[in-house]
Amino acid sequence: MANASGFLGPSVPSLRRRAQFQRSMAIHGSGFCSPELSAKRVFCSSAIQGADKQALGDSSIESRAPRLVSKGCKLLGSGSAIPSLQVSNDDLAKIVDTSDEWISVRTGIRNRRVLSGKDSLTNLAAEAARKALEMAQVDADDVDMVLMCTSTPEDLFGSAPQIQKALGCKKYPLSYDITAACSGFVLGLVSAACHIRGGGFNNVLVIGADSLSRYVDWTDRGTSILFGDAAGAVLVQSCDAEEDGLFAFDLHSDGDGQRHLKASFTENDIDHAVGTNGAISDFPPRRSSYSCIQMNGKEVFRFACRSVPQSIESALQKAGLDGSNIDWLLLHQANQRIIDAVATRLEVPPERVISNLANYGNTSAASIPLALDEAVRSGKVKAGHMIAAAGFGAGLTWGSAIVRWG
Ligand code: ACO
Repeated sequence: MANASGFLGPSVPSLRRRAQFQRSMAIHGSGFCSPELSAKRVFCSSAIQGADKQALGDSSIESRAPRLVSKGCKLLGSGSAIPSLQVSNDDLAKIVDTSDEWISVRTGIRNRRVLSGKDSLTNLAAEAARKALEMAQVDADDVDMVLMCTSTPEDLFGSAPQIQKALGCKKYPLSYDITAACSGFVLGLVSAACHIRGGGFNNVLVIGADSLSRYVDWTDRGTSILFGDAAGAVLVQSCDAEEDGLFAFDLHSDGDGQRHLKASFTENDIDHAVGTNGAISDFPPRRSSYSCIQMNGKEVFRFACRSVPQSIESALQKAGLDGSNIDWLLLHQANQRIIDAVATRLEVPPERVISNLANYGNTSAASIPLALDEAVRSGKVKAGHMIAAAGFGAGLTWGSAIVRWG
């Protein structure tokens, strides 16, 4: 039986069964319990209780008091940042057997930005976040959560706390990474809403940032032409439930499809300097690293064209809307042919589709907030506009969110 992404594999609950489950649990189409139905009041605390307070050397950190929550959330500010090094299709054609014509016709991509020299993804993410705070007119000290959506952190243990540090957030907001490749930002957005609605958080920075160029095999013309590096951020703020700006979402994952797109853990040669332990075989473990991106482009293309429209239609249905109600279609920027196919299926005309991948290529978790930020700053996306956003990619993961800007 074909699974949710359309690949053959173990069966997953159908959308219909999920919908029945949601109804029986009296959960709204958006996936959240309605305030009137949740008789139990939710209390929470969002700080590490006194963890090494003194060691951190800041007596101002208080264990936050439990808060009663029944909130909405809105998207208030956006920001983005890109590396300075630009690599054109012609530049790539000097390394691999390809051409500007082939790349632009098959993908719509003409240029991409690539981290170089001492550039750091963490710095790029912090710059995007700073701009989002500035637009939202929110002080870094008022941020109580930082979600860093990335599959390429500069520390195996996560980058988000480093961004919190770079921003100079004095109240030590809870910061952690979300790993979901090109769906990362949509998952981050929904996670922010959950933390605000059910967790009492007020100002959540959702950052999408990736440097897939570090995991590209630059001799492989099937993948090297696609990817670029960037960071984008959105400030999500709590508001009254009536002003809520996340109307619905629809999220999926399918580990069976991982074989079509991966950068897997690999064991390197054993470090002979360490020696071996004769008593325990396979010890000590070998040092490990990740392989370069391996992709079956055709399968990923088919998966995206099939699953993304379904997901958006499902989210729109939960929100009680259809394609004609949205001002903008904002998809993960992977391939212009995928964007066009999804827009056609949803009957969204080209003038209501946001696309900037010609300049940046596929920037993974950064692509949606980067394109959103450009559209907001150019005046295309205005306060009150409805956006259908969808991410898809490795995992496999995919999902969509229907949001209102501002
Ligand atoms: N330049 C010139 N020729 C090329 C290139 C290239 N860069 N790449 C492949 N070709 C050749 C192939 O060898 C093949 O030649 P042949 O017919 O002689 O065998 C021909 O062009 C067609 O190759 P295909 O692989 O069939 O090309 P396709 O039309 O499928 O396009 C592409 C490839 C652009 C990768 C497309 O499949 C795609 O965009 N897939 C989706 C990828 C994606 O969206 N990933 C998103 C997720 S990323 C993430 O989550 C990290």
